[in-house]
Amino acid sequence: MSILVFGGTGQIGFELVRELARIDDIVAPTRDEVDLTSPEAIRAAVEHFAPAVVVNAAGYTAVDSAETDESACAALNVEAPEVLAKSCRRRGACFIHFSTDYVFDGAKTAPYVESDATGPLNVYGKTKLAGERAIEAVGGAYLIFRTSWVYAGRGRNFPLTMLRLARELTELAVVDDQIGAPTSARAIASAVADVLGGLSDGDALRDAAESAAGIYHLSAAGHTTWYGFARAILADAPWPEQQVCRNLRAIATAEYPTTAPRPRYSVLDNSKVRERFGVQLPPWDEQWQTVSAELRLKRS
Ligand SMILES: NC(=O)c1ccc[n+]([C@@H]2O[C@H](COP(=O)([O-])OP(=O)(O)OC[C@H]3O[C@@H](n4cnc5c(N)ncnc54)[C@H](OP(=O)(O)O)[C@@H]3O)[C@@H](O)[C@H]2O)c1
Repeated sequence: MSILVFGGTGQIGFELVRELARIDDIVAPTRDEVDLTSPEAIRAAVEHFAPAVVVNAAGYTAVDSAETDESACAALNVEAPEVLAKSCRRRGACFIHFSTDYVFDGAKTAPYVESDATGPLNVYGKTKLAGERAIEAVGGAYLIFRTSWVYAGRGRNFPLTMLRLARELTELAVVDDQIGAPTSARAIASAVADVLGGLSDGDALRDAAESAAGIYHLSAAGHTTWYGFARAILADAPWPEQQVCRNLRAIATAEYPTTAPRPRYSVLDNSKVRERFGVQLPPWDEQWQTVSAELRLKRS
């Protein structure tokens, strides 16, 4: 086998397994098969499968729970990536990892570039940043893709929650003062497959990845607020006939407090990934239309 994927049951991981299959053989052990909180299990898996590429799409992604569960969050977001990076370096494998827009504090009003100062506001963001730093310290052939506001046609995410609530409630209130770029897991996976496909095979792939090693922003083009996203979701809902929601209200974050604070602005500038690898994700609203159409098709 050639590509080892962790987190294959998650939003990005599930789509990655499908997309990467067009490049090479994939093996995607489940959490029961390889628990990433066990350094020994990670080392054994990388040795056993001897992959050319390891993709880590696993993570502790429950942003609010992380506030009171810091050690579990760090085990998955800091310690596991560090062990993965070391195992890859030892084996000469290329390591692909995902990070988040929540490494930023949101004080900017123009898209963040990779070299901008970080300043996470919550435990999740702090652990993701520490994970990035641990990987950078190991070095080697690593690519870290920071993405944002991820969703898919499956799993637990904002659009599927909105669609469910719009079937149950006549009025919905959604935060309109956090700005970001909703990004579909499929679009991320497709871009990562293009990046990997663009690099060559075997040792050359590792060399190419090592010379390109670093952090890359990879999110949908454009930006909106959670309210703007909710409007687009309901305007292009896969099953509009079931909607009872007639009033979608824009509210301030102060009216919907969460355990973990979020950045008010976390749009990512994608120039670096476009210039280095020639990949560019579609606008966020087009991505939603694609996912909505797939959901509709699945239902019919
Ligand atoms: N979601 C977002 O909005 C967002 C935004 C920016 C960046 N990211 C980053 O993108 C990556 C993927 O996010 P996602 O939303 O696709 O994740 P997700 O849907 O929450 O899936 C998480 C994955 O991690 C696996 N996992 C959890 N604990 C594990 C363990 N101890 N051992 C092995 N596997 C374990 C889960 O397996 P089970 O199915 O067994 O639980 C699942 O496959 C993460 O690094 C995340 O930080 C996400």
